[in-house]
Amino acid sequence: MDTKIDEIADGIFRFSTFVPEVAAPAGFTFNQFLVLGDEPLIFHTGHRRMFPQISAAVARVMPIERLRWITFGHYEADECGAMNDWLAAAPRSEVAHGETACMVTLGDAADRPPRVLKDGEVIDLGGGKRLRYLDTPHVPHAWESGLLYEESTGTLFCGDLFTQTGGGPALVEGDIVGPAIATEDMFRSSSLSPAMGPTIRRLAALAPRTLGLMHGPSFRGDGASALKALAENYDQRIRA
Ligand SMILES: [Fe+2]
Ligand SMILES: [Fe+2]
Repeated sequence: MDTKIDEIADGIFRFSTFVPEVAAPAGFTFNQFLVLGDEPLIFHTGHRRMFPQISAAVARVMPIERLRWITFGHYEADECGAMNDWLAAAPRSEVAHGETACMVTLGDAADRPPRVLKDGEVIDLGGGKRLRYLDTPHVPHAWESGLLYEESTGTLFCGDLFTQTGGGPALVEGDIVGPAIATEDMFRSSSLSPAMGPTIRRLAALAPRTLGLMHGPSFRGDGASALKALAENYDQRIRA
């Protein structure tokens, strides 16, 4: 298992580890994203047991002790298992997440107090990079869920939205909705609720130009259309 490194947008690096045993025979990718700036930010920490490998990969781009912000979508091992390892490795780093995650879990689980982000609040990394935090409760699963949008590059970090199996290139411009629907049929990992479509359409209103998937390639193109099509598919599932 090696971790591939690709710059998917200006100053935004994707770290991707393909694990053939997960969702075999297709396999499954686990991706982390690093946004450079005066205060560098990581979205997804990787699993705790993969910290030596992931941190070594990040160190090829930047000294890991420079990391300032540790962020992720929700509280699961692939999203934040290595949270405390990063806090220990980067002395100035802080976990940042929404009010629900901090109140319910991170105030206790994180080794240093987290920064609490209000819905819509921006973390300014310096160097032109601005990360807007968006509450997405229960989307695609977990009450505390939230996502980040980098304004200068139009990059939406989608977390588990659009999850697909298989390996493949770092960046695609083709269809990501079809594979996401097929994978939802397989895993049933989303918490279907009437709020799902509206929450995803709110993300579509950002008109992102790049979508960073946690499990799958990154996508460059009309992010709004892809998000609206995904929302429509969830609406159909809820109606059914
Ligand atoms: Fe998840
Ligand atoms: Fe995930």
